[in-house]
Amino acid sequence: QDDQFKKVISHAKEYGYVFQSSEIYDGLSAVYDYAQNGAELKKNIRDYWWRAMVQMNENIVGIDAAIFMHPTTWKASGHVDAFNDPLIDNKDSKKRYRADVLIEDYCAKIEAKIDKEVAKAAKRFGDAFNKEEFVSTNKRVLGYQEKINTTLSRMAQSLENEDLADVKALIEELEIADPLTGSKNWTDVKQFNLMFGTKLGASAENAMDLYLRPETAQGIFVNFLNVQKTSRLKIPFGIAQTGKAFRNEIVARQFIFRMREFEQMEMQFFIKPGTQQEWYEHWKETRLKWHLSLGMGEDNYRFHDHEKLAHYADAAADIEFKFPFGFKELEGIHSRTDFDLSQHEKYSGKKLQYFDPEENKSYVPYVLETSIGLDRMFLAVFSNSLQEEELENGTTRTVLKLPSVLAPVKAAVLPLVKKDGLPEIARQIVEDLKWDFNVIYDEKDAVGRRYRRQDANGTPFCITVDHDTLEDNSVTIRHRDTMEQERVKIDDLRDIIKKEVDV
Ligand code: GAP
Repeated sequence: QDDQFKKVISHAKEYGYVFQSSEIYDGLSAVYDYAQNGAELKKNIRDYWWRAMVQMNENIVGIDAAIFMHPTTWKASGHVDAFNDPLIDNKDSKKRYRADVLIEDYCAKIEAKIDKEVAKAAKRFGDAFNKEEFVSTNKRVLGYQEKINTTLSRMAQSLENEDLADVKALIEELEIADPLTGSKNWTDVKQFNLMFGTKLGASAENAMDLYLRPETAQGIFVNFLNVQKTSRLKIPFGIAQTGKAFRNEIVARQFIFRMREFEQMEMQFFIKPGTQQEWYEHWKETRLKWHLSLGMGEDNYRFHDHEKLAHYADAAADIEFKFPFGFKELEGIHSRTDFDLSQHEKYSGKKLQYFDPEENKSYVPYVLETSIGLDRMFLAVFSNSLQEEELENGTTRTVLKLPSVLAPVKAAVLPLVKKDGLPEIARQIVEDLKWDFNVIYDEKDAVGRRYRRQDANGTPFCITVDHDTLEDNSVTIRHRDTMEQERVKIDDLRDIIKKEVDV
């Protein structure tokens, strides 16, 4: 698993997808830059989302709100008081950890023990092995399971009650050690706010304390009435946006999975109070379908329904994806009730109500939210697509099987040799196709090497111009995933590519 993840990270760098930010200064932790291919892939994911959410839905519109917002926004939203991580320091190593992550890692280790027992038993029983029956009856496994459950529920309870002393007690009782040094000498647990602060204004006396937004959602809530009035949309309707968000994350060790500066794609759907349950189900299903439409494998997704709810929600579920380090949250679907709009009414003194012509009355709408991290989606797509294949001739090829609609470069046009007029024809094909797709020209190295380079880069098509092209106006088109090649007319290229890369 670790090896696979390392490969993902180094491939992302080697092929111009993701670089460590400020690398020449040894980087900045949990901050990354998207390179020439990464920026394209990221844009394509964003567009794929925007098309599904905004373009395809008559009753959803998109906005682009500012990153800076009036500081009272974050008082109203609850982020000043409740957007915290519980931190603990190790007195010997002076290292800082998230207390909840230490406890979750401890449980993950027990989970690994269960996996080991299962693997052992599977080997012993062979074909007769029934995993479900084994885990529901084996004493040792049941003991492990019980330990995980009691630990996690006690942690959730203590965090909910703000009983930080008990979180520390739990860490001590479990004898959790500093993962780097093994020391068990811990400080008390303290809450740490995740928002980045900055200042607006030139002089120290007049400067206003601001926060960089930790979620894009609030830009939608504060604009709710402006958008509703100018669009004349009727409930139910949605407002969507994509944009940067910032969180001072303490545990930042999983590449672009958890970043300090990241991008969200969020949609707030405004509904009649009392209908939240049906919309919650609707959006869970709709968003899962969106993921499945990319063809990355049904087994790689699962729902995780939250027991412990954020301060704003009355129901919440994550769509989890199987990352190289296991199933983790990719997207959240939250039933936020009227929490945000009511809070903004309270703090701003302005009415944020919708007049419902059918009911002939005004009310504060309820909100159903879908929220996905663009960078996290990038990691899901990229890590799932990176594969190593054994070929029939005994060699292996590295291939990035990106969904074609998301691939940064749709086709590479390759003259077989650098002479006899072939480069000119290849360049002309690029000239013609570039109006519709991102295509590149590549003449360096033997054609087999060029194919491999494009495979590793995720390019769905290679188009090769050879000497026969001079006679028959045809080229060879090679498909990345199957490596199949076919002879086609130059005039048909656009349609062939379009069919595969258009949604
Ligand atoms: N408006 C609701 C909200 O922000 P969240 O669960 O805190 O909810 C939503 O975040 C999504 O944003 C997550 O499912 C994840 O994909 C992404 N996300 C959150 N924190 C992130 C981080 N530090 N780095 C990358 N993505 C992050």
